[in-house]
Amino acid sequence: MNLSKFGEKFTRKAGITQLMDDLGSAMAGGDMLMLGGGNPAHIPAVQDRFRRRMEEILAEPLGFETMIGNYDGSRGNEAFIEALAGMLHDTFGWDITAKNIALTNGSQNAFFCLFNLFAGDMPDGSKKKILFPLTLEYIGYGDVGLTDDFLTARLPHIELLDDGLFKYHVDFESLDIGDDVGAICVSRPTNPTGNVLTDDEIIHLDAIAREKGIPLIIDNAYGTPFPDIIYTEAQPIWNENTVVCMSLSKFGLPNLRTGIVIAREEIAAAIADINGVMHLAPGGIGARMALDLVRSGEIMQISREIVQPFYERKARRTLDLFRTELDGLPCRIHKPEGAIFLWLWFQDLPYPCERLYEELKQRNTLVIPGHHFFPGLENEYWQHKHECIRVTYAQDDAIVEEGVKVIADQVRKLYG
Ligand SMILES: Cc1ncc(COP(=O)(O)O)c(C=O)c1O
Repeated sequence: MNLSKFGEKFTRKAGITQLMDDLGSAMAGGDMLMLGGGNPAHIPAVQDRFRRRMEEILAEPLGFETMIGNYDGSRGNEAFIEALAGMLHDTFGWDITAKNIALTNGSQNAFFCLFNLFAGDMPDGSKKKILFPLTLEYIGYGDVGLTDDFLTARLPHIELLDDGLFKYHVDFESLDIGDDVGAICVSRPTNPTGNVLTDDEIIHLDAIAREKGIPLIIDNAYGTPFPDIIYTEAQPIWNENTVVCMSLSKFGLPNLRTGIVIAREEIAAAIADINGVMHLAPGGIGARMALDLVRSGEIMQISREIVQPFYERKARRTLDLFRTELDGLPCRIHKPEGAIFLWLWFQDLPYPCERLYEELKQRNTLVIPGHHFFPGLENEYWQHKHECIRVTYAQDDAIVEEGVKVIADQVRKLYG
C-alpha cells in the first residue's frame, strides 16, 4: 500500500492503539485480570438510571425516531448544549452561553482537534508545540499531531509523603515557555497517576498561559462537576483563556462517544467547523441520554453521591491491598486523589517495567507499563520512567484483589 505521510503516521502502532487492542481482547472475555485499560466500571445504580432514561426516551412520542433518525448540527445537540451552559453558569458562575460549547465524538477527538488547532505548521512558517508542564500524562495525547515533533513536556518535581505515598508537582522553576509553544495542556485528575493539580498550580499555569497569549487546556475527563472522580479539594476553573474538555465516558457512557469542549466562542466555533468536515456532526445519543440529567442537575448529584464514593472506596481498598501485599518492598504509590488508577513506583526495579508488563501478561494480568505516559519526552532518559506501572481499580473487587496478588508476587520474585 502506498501511503501518504498522514497514512504512515496514523497507521504506526501507536501506544494508544496497543492499549485499546489489549483492552478490547480482555473485555471480549477470557480469563485475563483486567487491571490495564481505562474502561469505567458498570455501577449498578448509575446503569439503572441510564436504563430508565432510555425507556423514557422510547416512550416519548417520536423519541426513538428522532434520537436515531436526525443529524444534529456540527456543534452537537443544541438542547443539551443550552442546558449544560445554563447549569455551568448557574452553578459556578461561569460566564458562558451555548456559543462557548461544542460537542465531539468523545474527548479523545477533542484533543485531536484542539492540539492541531494550536500546534504544528503555522501560516507564518514557524512550528508550534503542545506543552505538558507535568508529564506523566495521558497516553492518548501521544500520537494525535498531524506533524512530527509536535509535543514537548517537563518532568515533575517529586514530593515524598508519609505512609509510602508520593505526589508529583509542576516544577515551576524549570518551566521556561518558549515562543514555540502553542498551548499548554494538563489532565486533572491526571491519567495515569490519579494526581489532582492543586488550585494554585492551575491558577499559576493559567497566569503563565495568559502572559504568553496561549490557551490552557484542562482535560477534565474525570473531573468536577461530572463524573467528579476526585477525592480531594479542587475548584472547577474556567475563563476565556482556558479550554475545559469534559466527557460522558467516565460518567458511565463511554460507548456513546460524547466529548464536550468549553472555550471562548471562536474556539468552540472552530471545533464545530472541524466536526463538519470530519464527521458532519458529532453523534447525539449521549447528549440525548444526558439532557434531562443536566436540565435537572441530577448529573452532578449522581456524580457526587454515587460515582465519586464508588471509586473512592475502591481506591482505598486497592491501596490497602497493595500495602499489605507489597509490605517490605521498596514501592511507593502516588497519593490517590482521583481518576480510576493507582500509580506504583518500584524504586530501583531490577529490570524495566516493560518486562514486568510482559511477565504479568503471561500470568493473565494486564497492567500498563509506565514508560507509555511520557508524551513529549519519549526520547529523554529518566530511570523513573521504567520503574512504574498503572493499575486500574475500576473492575470488580474480586478481579482487582486477585490482580494485586499476582502483581505483588511477581514483583517480590523480581527483587529476589
Ligand atoms: C485523561 C483522559 N482524557 C481523555 C480521555 C478520552 O476519553 P473519551 O474519548 O472517552 O472522552 C481519556 C480516556 O481514558 C482519559 O483518560
